Amino acid sequence: MRAVTWQGRRDVRVENVPDPRIEEPTDAIIRITSTGLCGSDLHLYEVLTPFMTPGDILGHEPMGVVEEVGAGVPDLQAGDRVVVPFQIACGNCWMCLTGLQTQCETTQVGSEGMGAALFGYTRLYGAVPGAQAEYLRVPQAQYGPIKVPEGPPDDRFVYLSDVLPTAWQAVAYAGIPQGGSIAVLGLGPIGDMACRVAQVKGAGRVFGVDLVPERLARARERGVETFDLRSFHDEKELVTAIRDRTDGRGPDAVIDAVGTEAHGSAAARMMQNASAMLPPKLSGPLAERFSIDRLAALHTAIELVRRGGTVSVTGVYGGTADPMPMLTMFDKQIQMRMGQANVRRWSDEIIPYLTDEDPLGVEDFATHRMPLSEAPHAYEMFQQKRDGAVKILMQP
Ligand SMILES: NC(=O)c1ccc[n+]([C@@H]2O[C@H](COP(=O)([O-])OP(=O)(O)OC[C@H]3O[C@@H](n4cnc5c(N)ncnc54)[C@H](O)[C@@H]3O)[C@@H](O)[C@H]2O)c1
Ligand SMILES: [Zn+2]
Ligand SMILES: [Zn+2]
Repeated sequence: MRAVTWQGRRDVRVENVPDPRIEEPTDAIIRITSTGLCGSDLHLYEVLTPFMTPGDILGHEPMGVVEEVGAGVPDLQAGDRVVVPFQIACGNCWMCLTGLQTQCETTQVGSEGMGAALFGYTRLYGAVPGAQAEYLRVPQAQYGPIKVPEGPPDDRFVYLSDVLPTAWQAVAYAGIPQGGSIAVLGLGPIGDMACRVAQVKGAGRVFGVDLVPERLARARERGVETFDLRSFHDEKELVTAIRDRTDGRGPDAVIDAVGTEAHGSAAARMMQNASAMLPPKLSGPLAERFSIDRLAALHTAIELVRRGGTVSVTGVYGGTADPMPMLTMFDKQIQMRMGQANVRRWSDEIIPYLTDEDPLGVEDFATHRMPLSEAPHAYEMFQQKRDGAVKILMQP
């Protein structure tokens, strides 16, 4: 079959690899019809290179049709239409039963000291072949795959694999009071969807921050009060601008939907590349004004949230060394929650929103649909935030 493979830093290629087959009774094989490209894949593309092995198959946001199931998968049959969660969980251990499927004790990657195995996500997460491919072997298929009805386009359901539960959990963890205010840092697919979820869940005011004009515009069109990072002199000015709209206190909650990528030394380089599309007048000063360390967005979140408020971190961080502003975190008495999204913890709550009325706007959420064969171009375009690329779906 054809699959998107990682070959080196910023080097992905579509190659022929052996077809997956049933290895355990609880496996299923899925023929993939749509598969997403995620900000998390971008971390692998560049920053997490040390954890990758050439030939690794990428991807973790698939849906498709069941081809074959093992003897231990009673509820699925060939021909079923399914979405596959990005994490692999058993559904039956103590963690899964607590709703912490990302900590599944059956699939935890103990050798690396990590939580549940993930599709296509480095040896840290089990080196499981990923979903940007024609076919996918799904372990623990007696629990993971979510059956969806025939009829509506893939776009209606495919984000159940990651974007929707991630945004949902980010908002749930933010714990905003009814009618309260929330600021979302980063308006990539995750931040954008988190704004939408906050709106349907009854947030009073939703603020969004990014530095890519198309992403800001997209959120603004749906009623988010947007702030363009580039128009502020420093973090303090941004914080003041949002505080001014919240009685001087700051929002009840802040979601960090940025993660490590815009920051850190490797990412600083990347940010400058990304800002190559900005006029030099803007891009140079941008790098100077904002501390482009890997925790910049997280520090902003801590600074911005009101006293006694909640910071919900959904962006992925990988560093182990950076100290946190403990003085401020303690003094402000803030709550902080974080982690990979527990997909099946939220999926049943989300499905009622995936209707013809489409309150979350999933059906026109993708900005680009491309054949899998164009994956190298898709990665490059998404990383560079070119051509208005926010969410890319690929069809094998
Ligand atoms: N927790 C989970 O389960 C989970 C699931 C999926 C993705 N993620 C993570 O969520 C993050 C976002 O994913 P995405 O697909 O939206 O990726 P993305 O890279 O498209 O989005 C990040 C956005 O942040 C913006 N940004 C950069 N620096 C900023 C700053 N200082 N302030 C405000 N905005 C800034 C970028 O312009 C970009 O639009 C990634 O770290 C990804 O790994 C987590
Ligand atoms: Zn993802
Ligand atoms: Zn489990």
